[in-house]
Amino acid sequence: MDAVLSFMEWFLKYFLPPMIANASPVLLRGGRPVDGERRFIDGKPLLGPGKTWQGVIIGVYMGTLSSLPISVYLESIIHMVNGFAASISALLGDMIGSFIKRRLGIPRGEPLPFLDQLDFALTASLYYWLVDPGFRRPDYLFYSLLLVLVLHITTNNVAYVLGVKDRRW
Ligand code: CTP
Ligand code: MG
Repeated sequence: MDAVLSFMEWFLKYFLPPMIANASPVLLRGGRPVDGERRFIDGKPLLGPGKTWQGVIIGVYMGTLSSLPISVYLESIIHMVNGFAASISALLGDMIGSFIKRRLGIPRGEPLPFLDQLDFALTASLYYWLVDPGFRRPDYLFYSLLLVLVLHITTNNVAYVLGVKDRRW
């Protein structure tokens, strides 16, 4: 039981901010596209209309805000700095994911399993791995990515049933 608790504490400390950052933009409807509707050399959209500046801003804001209770609980402002940087990393990862999907010819909103669920978590993990020795736990990281996968699929289905999201993925 102690092992599960220490993993859950680790998971929340590191993954709550990027998960909130990734999930918050879904609440928006439209906005100014980050790629400015530009196309890549292959003639396909650079990122597509699913990535907006409004989404980036609300994601970074909500992700950083979610690290406030973590900072209070652990009594260090460093967790907010990390929450802010991890949220930016998460949104960058989400955009890298869209860039890859467009290169593969997958239209905006169509699924690419595993990449859709994990892109943001992988880039946030890269950030933490580089700056925080406490994050360098390959076993915890593996379980966390599995949990992110399951949580992502579950929350997306709930959002779809509630009508917040118009697709299941
Ligand atoms: N969103 C946004 N800005 C972002 C990320 C997401 O406005 N930076 C909003 C968009 O309305 C998007 C929705 O959140 O449609 C869901 O995000 P996501 O599933 O990542 O985008 P998709 O529409 O599936 O597009 P893609 O195929 O590029 O992943
Ligand atoms: Mg999607």
